[in-house]
Amino acid sequence: MYTLEKCRLVDLPKITDPRGNLTFIEGSNHIPFEIKRIYYTYDVPGGSDRGAHAHKKMHSLMIAMSGSFDVVLDDGITKKRFHLNRSYFGLYICPMMWRYLDNFSSGSVCLVLASSLYDAEDYYRDYEAFLNDARKTRK
Ligand code: TYD
Repeated sequence: MYTLEKCRLVDLPKITDPRGNLTFIEGSNHIPFEIKRIYYTYDVPGGSDRGAHAHKKMHSLMIAMSGSFDVVLDDGITKKRFHLNRSYFGLYICPMMWRYLDNFSSGSVCLVLASSLYDAEDYYRDYEAFLNDARKTRK
């Protein structure tokens, strides 16, 4: 069962160096899935919201590569707000988790590592439909 407790901030490896720090991520080693796709949002105007959907099967890791933003996760019963502002912390998001992003700082870049290729069928874009299915799995 996918609940909010499964989602967590992952402290990624960080090689500190006076020439600039380095962080790396290996699928199935630092995160609990193999990486099939990477996407990122950028040039996000201040005050805008993104996300507002859930995935049926996809796992993801979200990182603020630059700047900061908030991610609100909701498993249908409990909600939690995370503030992402470091490129060496990733937020692991399991399937069946409604998410929306807000509070973007200017120049922020949100990188997402995903466990599957893009598939419109894997999305819940309707909150009521998501709630219905999420709560069904708790019974
Ligand atoms: P969407 O997932 O709604 O973005 P966000 O959750 O950040 O608001 O995606 C926006 C559009 O981009 C939508 O038409 C689907 C398309 N898209 C792809 O074609 N491939 C992808 O890998 C992603 C993430 C989105």
